[in-house]
Amino acid sequence: MRIDIISVVPKLMESFFAHSIIKRGAEAGHVEVVLHDLRDYSLSKHRQVDDYAFGGGAGMVLSIEPIARCIRHLQSQRTYDEVIYMTPDGEPFNQRIANTLSLKGNLIFLCGHYKGVDQRVRDLFITKEISIGDFVLSGGELAAAVCADAIIRLIPGVLNDETSALTDSFQDNLLAPPVYTRPAEFEGHQIPEILLSGHEAKIIEWRFEQALERTKQRRPDLLDDSVF
Ligand code: ADE
Repeated sequence: MRIDIISVVPKLMESFFAHSIIKRGAEAGHVEVVLHDLRDYSLSKHRQVDDYAFGGGAGMVLSIEPIARCIRHLQSQRTYDEVIYMTPDGEPFNQRIANTLSLKGNLIFLCGHYKGVDQRVRDLFITKEISIGDFVLSGGELAAAVCADAIIRLIPGVLNDETSALTDSFQDNLLAPPVYTRPAEFEGHQIPEILLSGHEAKIIEWRFEQALERTKQRRPDLLDDSVF
């Protein structure tokens, strides 16, 4: 998979993508993340990429020309499955969307800034709009990094068995069960006995029950359309 991210502040994401799981995925050849500075696609002397909103009002709007130039340049080199705009009025991101996108070949993420992008960008180039929650960030960069992380870790081969995504919260509409490590007793607080039993089937059952209970307590909404 190749992920291209277009932004006015690509530096914000540089160190994020140079580390952790994503770096491992890149080194193993599973994914390539390429950051693009929108200003490189501006034709103006001062590399301007925004302008005042028609009709007035506070805040600048990202102009269509540099964005069109950047997206068209990328699309002339390969086919993209989705051109995604990160915006608080997009579809709420979740594990189902992450799963779907992790099966795609190439993705473009466009990060909004200031008051957002000229609506014509959305009408002409964007195939999917994603929000990471009901709050407004100063730009789409952190949101794109969040989505890319959630997607990349699902690409087969990126995680090893130890960190397998299959047991994550949300993967089957359940929150993850509690986990414990050594010591088995800390200041009188014991870990659940069953985890020391060595009885694998019983441990699996216990984990499932814990996951179900935790989901009922904390996120009953997740159970509405689940099989449990
Ligand atoms: N840009 C600003 N806020 C955002 C949000 N909540 N989700 C996605 N992109 C954003």
